Amino acid sequence: MKEHIKILAIESSCDETAAAIVEDGRTVKSNIISSQIELHKLYGGVVPEIASRKHIEKINYVIEEALKEAGETLDSIDAIAVTYGPGLVGALLVGVAEAKAIAFAKNKPLVGVHHIEGHICANYIENLELEPPFLCLVVSGGHTHLVDVQGYGNYKIIGRTRDDAAGEAFDKVARAIGLGYPGGPKIEKLALEGNKYAINFPRAKVHDAPNDFSFSGLKSSVLNYLNKCEMKHEEVNREDVAASFQEAVVDVLSSHGVNAAQELGYKKLAIAGGVASNGAFRTKIEEKCKEAEIEFYHPSPIFCTDNAAMIGAAGYYEYISGTRSGWDLNAVPGLKIGER
Ligand code: KG4
Ligand code: ZN
Repeated sequence: MKEHIKILAIESSCDETAAAIVEDGRTVKSNIISSQIELHKLYGGVVPEIASRKHIEKINYVIEEALKEAGETLDSIDAIAVTYGPGLVGALLVGVAEAKAIAFAKNKPLVGVHHIEGHICANYIENLELEPPFLCLVVSGGHTHLVDVQGYGNYKIIGRTRDDAAGEAFDKVARAIGLGYPGGPKIEKLALEGNKYAINFPRAKVHDAPNDFSFSGLKSSVLNYLNKCEMKHEEVNREDVAASFQEAVVDVLSSHGVNAAQELGYKKLAIAGGVASNGAFRTKIEEKCKEAEIEFYHPSPIFCTDNAAMIGAAGYYEYISGTRSGWDLNAVPGLKIGER
């Protein structure tokens, strides 16, 4: 095998059109992201049909920029990695079709990548010493998983949400207090001005499965609180609601993550996904890790939310282990972790 492997990575599973060049799984030479947030904001959430159309408009541009910034060409790269699931089917198809077309035209190997495995591998980019095994808490808009990373490309889910994902709860509560889409960053900002002890929202435990999560009760509790205030004609302090809700989520996520790591005897705990960019969450889980003498890892915020560099990192380890996708690679909206 060549000394250095340069991968062109493509990500289009939701509302970010992204391309990156990643060398040897850890060195990001470029990371271009074209966000559609401004467009979807108008509708209060991601509109799948609009997302697909925008991906088609932007995909060539982000790839050209990624190549240019890295000083590479379609001929000089070694392989193409692309997210093929999970995600919105029409959105995924744009990236998959583009990757297949480039791989076919340039006769380059093609590697299909799992989006959540990409989120986990974002941790490799800035933590050069991090190697499996470790435990990873994946908290995104669609997933809340505790993943036992047993090796490169070797994942076992040991805990999951029974209902809403953590990011989904942020988005729904944000909508309820009139903050709009995307909820996570807006709640984080508003929470800075609120009192996190003002309202005692519930911290749910799943009794028969201590590593599982549940956020729907918390969400309902916030909605009930808002309804009660309205019925009593009391003014809602949105800052306090945001801060108290965020504290409840962050509390549950960090204690579950650290408890699971301790129980399983892990000395390393990583976080990943959009919610992992939340400052309050990072601070709390880092503190708990320190107390428990567990090494804590996290990507920079730009590598937590959707990006293609993480797909390049995951794609590299797939590539060197011999994974190759065929021309029949298709979008798989419900792709499970560890499935090929
Ligand atoms: O990983 P991601 O970009 O996309 C998915 O794969 O789902 O995660 C998006 C989710 C959204 O629900 C968004 O509200 C949440 O991550 N999020 C945040 C923050 N930034 C993004 N949640 C809390 N605090 C943030 N700063
Ligand atoms: Zn994601």
